[in-house]
Amino acid sequence: MIFTNLTTKTVEATSLLIYVTVTVPLAYLVWTIIYNLFFSPLSRFPGPKLAACTNLPYLYWTSTGEYHYKIKTLHDKYGDVVRTGPKTLVYRTPQAWKDIYGHRKSGAGSFLKDPQFYLRGPRGPNIINADDEYHSRARRLLSHAFSEKALRDQEGLIQSYVDMLVERLDGEFLASRTADMSQWYNFALFDIIGDLSFGEPFGCLRESQYHPWVKMVFVSIKLLSLARPLVVYPFLAPIARMFLPQRLERMREEHFALTTEKVHQRLETKTERPDFMTYILRFDDERSMTTREMEANAAVLILAGSETTASVLSGFTFYVLTSPNAYRKLLQEIRGAFKSYDEINFQSVSQLAYLNAAIEETLRVFPPVPGATPRVVPKGGALIDGEFIPEDVSVSGAHYSTYHAEEHFTEADSFIPERWLEDKDECYKSDKLGAVQPFSLGPRNCLGRNLAYAELRLIVSKVFWTFDMAIDRSAVDWNIQKAYNVWERKPLMVKMSRAQH
Ligand code: HEM
Repeated sequence: MIFTNLTTKTVEATSLLIYVTVTVPLAYLVWTIIYNLFFSPLSRFPGPKLAACTNLPYLYWTSTGEYHYKIKTLHDKYGDVVRTGPKTLVYRTPQAWKDIYGHRKSGAGSFLKDPQFYLRGPRGPNIINADDEYHSRARRLLSHAFSEKALRDQEGLIQSYVDMLVERLDGEFLASRTADMSQWYNFALFDIIGDLSFGEPFGCLRESQYHPWVKMVFVSIKLLSLARPLVVYPFLAPIARMFLPQRLERMREEHFALTTEKVHQRLETKTERPDFMTYILRFDDERSMTTREMEANAAVLILAGSETTASVLSGFTFYVLTSPNAYRKLLQEIRGAFKSYDEINFQSVSQLAYLNAAIEETLRVFPPVPGATPRVVPKGGALIDGEFIPEDVSVSGAHYSTYHAEEHFTEADSFIPERWLEDKDECYKSDKLGAVQPFSLGPRNCLGRNLAYAELRLIVSKVFWTFDMAIDRSAVDWNIQKAYNVWERKPLMVKMSRAQH
């Protein structure tokens, strides 16, 4: 009798346990779905139903490297604002850029960077992922290193690497007649940014190969993208770790260790050369940076200052070489402007109208950060594109989708530098050029913008002045690329021969 009673009680307890562990979460799940679809303040925004209920589609799109294309498809289908997660909206209008990223009226809270997107490394915050207080101190300090005067002082150093690039390409051409320009631009940009950040190049141009540290940069960028599920769903961490190759994590650790070493080496060198560190070290008071902050920022300067510009150079070369009209006009302008190679400098290249238009057009069709850079709507909510959005929603503009929207640009997918010229055809006059914000805008826009333009103009002018080029058959669809925050970039094989002057 006692035994039967006990058994009945055990069965009842087990049933209750099953009921609680299965039914309660199930009920919660069903309620979350119903809430997200029908009662959430974002339920009025269009988008895929699954994305409204869970972040899984977003994580899938980013992990495949196709997020930028997916968002474009969604905007084309649903309109200028799409709900891509339970608390996420992605826009593609010029007004949304201003509302999300622009300067806010004093007193209005700022749109902070979305912490689920901007992950912090082991050295703590850096200028890109920091909160407002740290950011404004770091920005004030670093802005000296990016001033007009600093750029003028840095010209000699930058010129020397561009000349080395041209010399090495000459050698490469003699050896094989084709060069992977995507890789060669990277070599040059990494050497320049290495010298500006650490006081010494990575030796990529000299060795014609990537320094191990640089290889780790690529891994770090991809890892940041692939590790996102762990931030959105921390309980996935153990499962994700099983799939993420441990080698990747080890390389990321080595990356930070090497940065530390390089920063310390530079700090021990007493010099007045116009690199970033010289400007940072000029302040020895409350404005200055701790060594740990220098380590965190040096790593991010290398990332921000190399991949982006190298990516634009590769995109520029691809699009110009696959647009015979643009190639002809560009050669005419560059080779007509300079009698000799030595006349090519920061000042002289800034005057070339067609070159500048072609750079703008490259930034439009092939923006180096093609996806989105999300912010969080501040306390009290904010107006975006004329609509009130409640606080705590993740919002962003999407570069690739915005720049390829037919409603903003005539022949949006085509490379047409002429749309940026003063004297343009009637059909391009309605283009919304203000929709193109590859450097972002507002208080957290790109600090390296002037440096990037100077490098782009100089490198393009010297390379296109020196060589005749044609795209290799293997690279005809090069512009269709995956992106993990930045483009993955396949080899860009280009046939090269020395131009006859
Ligand atoms: C064509 C080349 C470049 C493009 C398109 C570009 C684009 C951008 C964008 C979109 C941001 C904002 C990122 C965000 O909101 O999360 C940014 C920030 C930044 N970029 Fe660039 N960038 C380029 C080149 C450079 C170069 C050469 C440097 C020099 C090291 C640089 C340094 C920075 C820094 C320090 C920030 C953070 C600024 C802040 O938060 O105050 N960038 N860049």
